[in-house]
Amino acid sequence: MNGNCNPIGIFDSGAGGLTVLTELVKIMPNERYIYFADTANCPYGSKPAEEIIHLSDRITQFLLSKGCKVVVVACNTATAAAIDHLRSSYNIPFIGMEPAIKPASQNTKTKSIGVLATAGTFKGRLYIETSRKYAADVNVCYQVGEGLVELVESGKANSTEAEQLLHRYVDPMVDCNIDHLVLGCTHYPFLKSTLEKILPSNITIVDPAPAVALQTKRVADNQGLLCKENSMNSTIIEFYSSSNTDILKNLIETHLKPQHRIDDIYFTNIKL
Ligand code: DGL
Repeated sequence: MNGNCNPIGIFDSGAGGLTVLTELVKIMPNERYIYFADTANCPYGSKPAEEIIHLSDRITQFLLSKGCKVVVVACNTATAAAIDHLRSSYNIPFIGMEPAIKPASQNTKTKSIGVLATAGTFKGRLYIETSRKYAADVNVCYQVGEGLVELVESGKANSTEAEQLLHRYVDPMVDCNIDHLVLGCTHYPFLKSTLEKILPSNITIVDPAPAVALQTKRVADNQGLLCKENSMNSTIIEFYSSSNTDILKNLIETHLKPQHRIDDIYFTNIKL
């Protein structure tokens, strides 16, 4: 029995969702993946919700036209704006990004946590509800990471510029005595080495990507959507982007490829 070997679709405003794709491939190496980076419209962070809903809808239609059986919205901002719309409009499972407020709030000893995300994510129902539910007794220092997505997209995640901007954002959190920093945007794990350089070592950086990958596997399994073919761990990934793919290619070379055996990678540029 082959199960369902149609591809899993993943999208983000740009390269950020690769941090989620990496985790998906780690636990489901036999699946086929189609990744869409909406680089022509990146960043999503400060766009109005209606525009993000419209873009997410177009991308979903594209992924469905490629036969995707599940869609992972590997973007916190698009999840915040569009996941309700997508779930009520299409008849396939959608997995969104959960801000990792819950594990951070449960594990904090100092009773103070930091959250770095886009303006759109902080405005979303999911963030507001999750913080109300799990962080009521915890001091949450939140900060919009203005300009960070642009730095990652221009290959400057490890630059002095990134270090200076991150200092500006996290220093006040350190002053608030946080012991967990939640990365509320899928681009931010690319800044992890720079963050580790400037944060005191007692601060745990929390990336929700592994939990989202596990949730994707759980949902696909429950609905009989996992590919059961034993293809010797060969992963096939198709990448589509709405403009230049250079940064995607670079980040795939430096982050995705060294961690996984990927047999085939295809790149295509399409207009949304
Ligand atoms: N990776 C997106 C997120 O997780 C980036 C948002 C943006 O494009 O500003 O929110």
